[in-house]
Amino acid sequence: MSIPTPTPEDRFSFGLWTINWPAQDQFGVATRVVMDPVYVVHKLAEIGAWGITFHDDDLVPFGSTEAERDRIISDFKKALDETGIVCEMVTTNTFSQPVFKDGAFTSNDRAVRRYGLRKILRNVDLAAELGAETFVMWGGREGAEYDTSKDYNAALSRYAEGIDTVASYIKSKGYAMRIALEPKPNEPRGDIILPTVGSALAFIARLDNGDIVGLNPEVGHEQMACLNYTASIAQALWSGKLFHIDLNGQKSIKYDQDLVFGHGDLMSAFGTVDLIENGFPNGGPTYDGPRHFDYKPSRTESEAGVWASAKANMTMYLLLKERAKAFRADPEVQSLLETAGIPSLAEPTLAAGESLDAFLADRSVFEDADVEALGARGYGFVELNQMATEYLLGARL
Ligand code: GCO
Ligand code: MN
Ligand code: MN
Repeated sequence: MSIPTPTPEDRFSFGLWTINWPAQDQFGVATRVVMDPVYVVHKLAEIGAWGITFHDDDLVPFGSTEAERDRIISDFKKALDETGIVCEMVTTNTFSQPVFKDGAFTSNDRAVRRYGLRKILRNVDLAAELGAETFVMWGGREGAEYDTSKDYNAALSRYAEGIDTVASYIKSKGYAMRIALEPKPNEPRGDIILPTVGSALAFIARLDNGDIVGLNPEVGHEQMACLNYTASIAQALWSGKLFHIDLNGQKSIKYDQDLVFGHGDLMSAFGTVDLIENGFPNGGPTYDGPRHFDYKPSRTESEAGVWASAKANMTMYLLLKERAKAFRADPEVQSLLETAGIPSLAEPTLAAGESLDAFLADRSVFEDADVEALGARGYGFVELNQMATEYLLGARL
């Protein structure tokens, strides 16, 4: 096995806020300088990335004049043209400024909600201007520390009103853009509204304009809630709602670590790449969107470490892709899948045309069933998983 080289065909993209995180945290000041976005675009092209994403305030500092904004955007566009880097997704910062301390769409202050909505709609226009197909909405401040401080019923209604309004604006403008909500259980709020993929899916089902609203699940966010990221994106796929992904690494339930993809739960990362690249074993909906990284270069790193860590994300993904392909191609694995009953799971439980009456009358199903024999069956899941692990480790090629 050799170390793969990423190319634009792999469609790797990075948030401007990831590469450009100056590494200030709760306990210390920044350890790096913020780089010029134009320089970042050129560097991303140099390392084989395909796309870039950003929050409005990452590109145009909050409070800039119209003239400054125009100049920054035009320089950025020029860099995109020069390098071929695609701006595939844009998102809005509704969490950094004091005005958003109680959220934007769900703030208890109506004037703040109206201000937030206006900031977001302005950013939708910028996203369309840059050709972004996805508009991510992460409501990091939409939440509470204390149950007494929020009417959750009203907050959910205001959240739905906000998302529906943005979606209807996108439609009215004829923009080829979809909204992707990003769930997170906590941080920065004590508890965030729409904490997981499951809660966001249930929320989308109740929207008036939910047809253009889907999800941008992040590895670490599901894992912070002790959930299985691969299973979560599988349900989003099954629901036709996996619009975008945020790949990174997380080690168990703690603060949002934003490690390099695969530097957290490696086996889970293998499962994720296997699903994205190989699809469901019996076929089904697939994901063909960008492979987007939302990580943070650790605070210990200099600029060289920033680019090394950016490359590490792409290398990890490509290595896992190669391993997952090899795993699926092995005939021995195919037979283990058979033993495990994977193909059988795709068979409907009732036969084609079988009526419920006929089913109830079939004594072999229940009355005469050999429950002991059914219970005695082994599925061989451990052997199958060991095989996957041996492929992951490169012990099998
Ligand atoms: C976080 C989030 C953000 C979002 C970003 C896009 O935990 O900080 O993951 O990085 O992805 O705001 O909307
Ligand atoms: Mn995150
Ligand atoms: Mn994210």
